[in-house]
Amino acid sequence: MNTDQSAEAKPTPWTHRHLLGLEELTAGEILTILDVAEDHVALSTRQEKKRNTLQDKVVVTLFFEPSTRTRASFHFAARRLGAEVSDFAAAVSSLNKGETFIDTARNIEAMGIDAVVVRHSVPGAPHLLAQHLRCSIINAGDGAHEHPTQGLLDIFTIRRIKGRIAGLTVGLVGDIAHSRVARSNIHGLVKLGARVIVCGPPTLIPADIRALGVEVDYHLDRILPQCDVVNVLRIQFERQRSGLFPSIQEYFRLYGMHAGRLAEARPDLLLLAPGPINRGVELTPEVADGPNSAILQQVTNGLAVRMAVLSLLCGDRS
Ligand code: NCD
Repeated sequence: MNTDQSAEAKPTPWTHRHLLGLEELTAGEILTILDVAEDHVALSTRQEKKRNTLQDKVVVTLFFEPSTRTRASFHFAARRLGAEVSDFAAAVSSLNKGETFIDTARNIEAMGIDAVVVRHSVPGAPHLLAQHLRCSIINAGDGAHEHPTQGLLDIFTIRRIKGRIAGLTVGLVGDIAHSRVARSNIHGLVKLGARVIVCGPPTLIPADIRALGVEVDYHLDRILPQCDVVNVLRIQFERQRSGLFPSIQEYFRLYGMHAGRLAEARPDLLLLAPGPINRGVELTPEVADGPNSAILQQVTNGLAVRMAVLSLLCGDRS
């Protein structure tokens, strides 16, 4: 448990070359990223012209798993800061001819790269790259382990709307076992002093999750009235063995966010979801598009957060 991390934490200077997970960061370092992201909001929403903070820097995205938001968001973020950005098409690369992951990455780095943004199905893949490459490595999701920029943008969105993190009760609802977003949210939120409750079917909640400083409850209707924020996590069918819950209908009955259930929550409940959302499974369209939802604001905020991460990692530290 992160009991040493005070809810009164202050931003602290950034010293890391990589962003591999929120587990490795202190509360102060997380606050620094959030504050730098605030500085980038006007730029991310195009009220401000492009900056050249990262002029002459080169960023490569290296995605071995599908992505809609994260990859595009890193591209736009890098470009708005003046960097050159390129997408490495893993599916049509020499990986298919037997080249190893490390050799592939080393060859890309040899083209003069400053940062690699990597997504991989294997937990720890970005950490492996960080051991072998000199450039900055940003984890854009490694298996079910961490997705730090998603965790940061969720926390950033909560702070912008609720004005604070410390003292809030945040429910993480759904497939906790297979969700890298859950793990990054937990590390960040607990360090910043939130009360975090994870909620879902017992088969989708790891037995040892309490060790991360969270509470566990299998009944959404019991925790919902206590929550200031609920982050709805997708059922990660692609990472599951079969038989972890009876049926989608049963899941929706117990954990789906619909208007009737929302009526039992606080009127100002903030509803987040990292996307992609499965409408009718984790939440209904009326809830996803309703007044409590900040799902699209999360996407907008993701740009500012990724600009902050890129500028902290690759910008001149003067
Ligand atoms: C998440 C991911 O890929 O981990 N999506 C995202 O980055 N916005 C969540 C998910 O796939 O459910």
